[in-house]
Amino acid sequence: MKCVDDFRLTLGDKEVVPIMIGGMGVDISTSDLALEAARLGGVGHISDAMIKTVADRRYKTKYVREKLKRYKFNVANSDKSVVQFDMGEIAEATRLHVEGTMSRKTGDGLVFINCMEKLTMNAPKETLRVRLRSALDAGIDGVTLAAGLHLGSFALIEDHPRFRDVKLGIIVSSLRALQLFLKKSARTNRLPDYVVVEGPLAGGHLGFGMDWSEYDLATIVTEIQQWMKENDVNIPLIPAGGIFTGTDAVNFLETGCAAVQVATRFTVSNECGLPDDVKQHYFKASEEEIEVNQISPTGYPMRMLKSSPAIGSGIRPNCEAYGYLLDSKGSCQYIDAYNKAVAAQPEARRVSVMEKTCLCTHMRNFDCWTCGHYTYRLKDTSHKGEDGNYALLSAEHIFRDYQFSKEGRILLPDAA
Ligand SMILES: Cc1cc2nc3c(=O)[nH]c(=O)nc-3n(C[C@H](O)[C@H](O)[C@H](O)COP(=O)(O)O)c2cc1C
Repeated sequence: MKCVDDFRLTLGDKEVVPIMIGGMGVDISTSDLALEAARLGGVGHISDAMIKTVADRRYKTKYVREKLKRYKFNVANSDKSVVQFDMGEIAEATRLHVEGTMSRKTGDGLVFINCMEKLTMNAPKETLRVRLRSALDAGIDGVTLAAGLHLGSFALIEDHPRFRDVKLGIIVSSLRALQLFLKKSARTNRLPDYVVVEGPLAGGHLGFGMDWSEYDLATIVTEIQQWMKENDVNIPLIPAGGIFTGTDAVNFLETGCAAVQVATRFTVSNECGLPDDVKQHYFKASEEEIEVNQISPTGYPMRMLKSSPAIGSGIRPNCEAYGYLLDSKGSCQYIDAYNKAVAAQPEARRVSVMEKTCLCTHMRNFDCWTCGHYTYRLKDTSHKGEDGNYALLSAEHIFRDYQFSKEGRILLPDAA
């Protein structure tokens, strides 16, 4: 019987352990987590989601305070079109985060950045261009295009000096999405270096509707493999979503997949950015406590713990400070949901908003506990202490468990 370590992921002239830790937005997949993956010979991700608030926390900048000061006059206005991002600041914050990470990199692996198109930031094309180009300028090893079809994203960087040799990949949830991306990007004469195929059991936003449970990762992967074979397209495929053990990973690698992308197991690592008490909620969650709902203003269904403080929270929209989900007209679905709730409860000091959530604020504060479907199995990956809490794991322990385990086994850490 094989283990993951019997395989390698080849990306151009680079060979790495075929384990990719997926991007987890707003600093859940921290630099430290990504750097551990690279040190151990695999691939880690940082994320550029809400990059200015991440820079403030990590690099002591004051971007959020300054932006709020600049646009404070607009706080009571539902029209947020004036609230624009300063491109120079996005570039600088991205550079700080990417350089700050890459300067600490050790080992033979790679560090990529997860870049979500759905962060439309009141000027989708312009902000995405700056985000991508700044990450390339700052020396990132690769970029994973996420949360969107990214039909124009290659074009935004095709004249960048690193366009041909930086590793570029895209996350898709269907053959159709991949076909569209390849068709639109063909003009740039460059294929993606890898394609992450994300199934319906993943954490974060889903590339499926509320009928997600009718889909299955292995079926989508097989369909894409067949199409690639018939059309002589050769791009490494990396399945993601619900791959919980090394054996789950081997099952995909044996069908010809190049690597796997995993995330949920690492949410309870020391290196993960979630606060420790939130990690305990992940450990203790039962299957019934996990839901896919539609409260994300992006319009994508999102999986999360039902106990997330973000659910039902009726805080005033905070776009003057953040505003990452404002569309090109300065709107966000949360603003509409909030206004509706206020109109329905005019006397209330605090309204409850069930329809949507202020995702920027709640992701920033780690109050939206997004997670993968198998979060309820995390309790099987560690020891429970006498106080009822579980022992956090090192990212190295989890990584090596994926790399070497066989027969569906999960290695528990040494008891303290
Ligand atoms: C807490 C959490 C946050 C996530 N955030 C993002 C994100 O910001 N962008 C993204 O493309 N995928 C995100 N994902 C998806 C992961 O990168 C990954 O593809 C997926 O969760 C893998 O499935 P698994 O969690 O079952 O291992 C997130 C997943 C989790 C668990």
